[in-house]
Amino acid sequence: MAEQGSNPIDTDCVTLTRYVLQEQRKHPEATGDLTQLLNAILTAVKAVSSAVRKAGIHHLYGIAGSTNVTGDQVKKLDVLANDLFINMLRSSYTTCLMVSEENDHAVEIDTEMQGKYIVCFDPLDGSSNIDCLVSIGSIFGVYRKVTDGEAKESDALQPGTKLVVAGYALYGSATMVVLTVGNGVQGFTYDPAIGEFLLTEHNIQCKPRGKIYSLNEGYEQYWDQATREYVKSKKFPASGKPYSARYIGSMVADVHRTLVYGGIFLYPATTEAPTGKLRLLYEGNPMAFIMEQAGGKASDGTKRVLDIQPTNIHERSPIFMGSKEDVEDVEALYRKYPRTK
Ligand code: AHM
Ligand code: MG
Repeated sequence: MAEQGSNPIDTDCVTLTRYVLQEQRKHPEATGDLTQLLNAILTAVKAVSSAVRKAGIHHLYGIAGSTNVTGDQVKKLDVLANDLFINMLRSSYTTCLMVSEENDHAVEIDTEMQGKYIVCFDPLDGSSNIDCLVSIGSIFGVYRKVTDGEAKESDALQPGTKLVVAGYALYGSATMVVLTVGNGVQGFTYDPAIGEFLLTEHNIQCKPRGKIYSLNEGYEQYWDQATREYVKSKKFPASGKPYSARYIGSMVADVHRTLVYGGIFLYPATTEAPTGKLRLLYEGNPMAFIMEQAGGKASDGTKRVLDIQPTNIHERSPIFMGSKEDVEDVEALYRKYPRTK
C-alpha cells in the first residue's frame, strides 16, 4: 500500500474541461460547442498568462509598435491578448460575433467558420496595472444568437439575464479562472506543470455581509450624494468598527477579492463620468452573473445590472456588487438620494 501523502498528484483531478463536460451531460441536446468554445478561451488565457509572466523579459510592456532585440514588431500585452482571444475563438467554429473592449465595432466571422455563440470580452482588464506587475485579468460573457440570418452587432445587445456562461481569468500570484454556467460558481487554478486548470474552489459563495469597501476614493469630489453617504457610513459607522478599504484598480482583482472575502466593489457614476466607467457587456454583466450565482448581488444603484437592456456595445453603467446586504445598503441610499442626470 502506498504511503499516505507520498504522491501529491491527484490522479482523478477535475479539470475545467471535465467540469464543463459534466455540466453538458445534464443537457442531452447539447452539441459540445460550448466545451469547444471554452477550450478556445482557455488557450487564449494560458497564452496571456504566459505572456504576462514573461512580459518584462520579452519587452511586452509599453507602446505597441516598438521593436524588440530581434527587430520584430512588439505587441503591447493588451493588443496581444486581444489577438489571442479573437484568433482562438474564431478558429473554434463556435462563434458568430465577438465584442471586444479593444475593437470599436463587433468582430464578424466568415460564414463558413460561424457557430451559434456570441462572445463579449475584455481581453486584458486593468490596463493601468499592466506595466507595474499588479494583478490584471480577462473577462468574458457568452450569449446565444437569437435572431435568424447573418450575425450583426445588434445581436450582441442582450441583457445579462441571457448570459449562458460568464467567467474571468485573474493573472495574480497564481492564474485562476472563475466560471459560471448558471449552476453556481467554480474556481480553477492553473497548474503550469500540466497545463491544465484544476477545480480548486467548489461552489464559491459570497458572504451576505463583508467588512471591506472598494472604490477609487480619489474621485470623492465627483461622487453623488448616495455614494458619499455610503462611504461615510463605512468609515464612521454609528456603531461597531469601520470597514477596511481595499482598491487595486483592476476590476477582476477587486471583484475576486470581494467574492472570496465579502464586502462591496463600487464604480459609481461621477460628474466626470455620468454613467460610470465600466462597460456593461464585457465588464459589468459577466461579473454580475458570477456575483449573483455566488449568492451576492450586482446593482447599478437602482436596479439589477443583469436587467439592463444595452443599446450600444460599449455602453457603460455604474456598478455596485458584492455581498447582498452591503449592496442593499447602497440601493437604500439611492432611494433616499435619487440620482439626478
Ligand atoms: P480598462 O478596461 O481600461 O483597464 O479600465 C477598467 C478598469 C477596471 O479594471 C477598474 O475597475 C477600473 O478601470 C479602475 O478605474 P480607475 O482608475 O478610474 O479607478
Ligand atoms: Mg476593461
